[in-house]
Amino acid sequence: MSGKILVTGGLGFIGSHTVVALQQKGFDVVIIDNLSNSSIDVLAGITRITEKTPEFEKIDLREKSSVKDFFEKYTDIEGVIHFAASKAVGESVQNPLLYYENNLASLVYLLQELSKKEKANIIFSSSCTVYGQADELPIKEESPVKKAESPYGNTKQIGEEIIIDTCKVAEGLKAISLRYFNPIGAHDSAEIGELPLGTPQNLVPFITQTAIGKREQLSVFGDDYPTEDGTCIRDYIHVMDLAEAHVAALTRLLENKEAPNYEVFNLGTGKGSSVLEVVNSFERASGEKLNYKIAPRREGDVIAAYADTTKANDVLGWKAETNLDTSLASAWKWERKVQEKETEQR
Ligand code: WQD
Repeated sequence: MSGKILVTGGLGFIGSHTVVALQQKGFDVVIIDNLSNSSIDVLAGITRITEKTPEFEKIDLREKSSVKDFFEKYTDIEGVIHFAASKAVGESVQNPLLYYENNLASLVYLLQELSKKEKANIIFSSSCTVYGQADELPIKEESPVKKAESPYGNTKQIGEEIIIDTCKVAEGLKAISLRYFNPIGAHDSAEIGELPLGTPQNLVPFITQTAIGKREQLSVFGDDYPTEDGTCIRDYIHVMDLAEAHVAALTRLLENKEAPNYEVFNLGTGKGSSVLEVVNSFERASGEKLNYKIAPRREGDVIAAYADTTKANDVLGWKAETNLDTSLASAWKWERKVQEKETEQR
């Protein structure tokens, strides 16, 4: 491959793991990140794993002129993986305009620059949240997109539509939307992982922070759902498996002339796990007893969501390999590494 791959949000959780996977496949990576929900230390973490420091530009993609300047400086970008976005469901309800501006204006400015190029490829970080509570499980890509339950989810739906409309008119542009289920865990070196910025909204970081003593107790949001043990079901996919899927999708765009201009893939393990199954799996994987209680349901939670992975398996030639215990063991190893660093810094 000749050109560079731009990874926006490349110092974030999924972004940093994808940069590692790209570099290990020989891609030349440049990262854009505005450090609003990440840390420059992640660049060193990536380098410790791959022994190659990606180029880095601290840019806020909401600044249209900065995006234009970037593409005038880097004229050899052959692919973009676009992670940079705000992603907290609850925050998006409180502050919708922050989400519509950050998640959509940035995408538009990126696409405006890519549309000027003779050939361009973009992979869009989307989410299973676009399905809402799907009528059928496991969820296929053809499953209807439903009215989003949050502005965050709406920005993913609108983002996909913006890309579809742009691909129809921008001759050389090809795109893939990847709908993630629930990304968890960390690179097995524990050099990178999900940064503990603020109170964790997601289940697994809350579990590991409770186990290490940062949080008093995990609240299990509801055990009266119509599932086997009464708790919600999700598809927890290891972040490195997710990263490898991005490399497979990028390779399809770069190498497969027959690939359509626009495609969508669900990225999950294909296996659903309940909240209590995750708790039990964590206790097994870590050897720690977890302090939790059953609490009221959380507004907006769907009962169950897990992926039909047939299309990604068959078309991308990709399959998630990591089981839940191993994924949670990697999350626990990362949590202990974070604590070690915090103790050293005191
Ligand atoms: C999982 C399950 C909770 C915390 C969201 C977004 C999705 C993606 C991942 C960004 C649910 C339960 C959680 C806790 C709990 N976001 N839970 N106690 O809501 O499936 O997905 O995050 O990329 O787009 O929609 O993930 O980890 O918040 O919740 O019982 O303290 O764990 O009720 O059933 P979710 P989650």
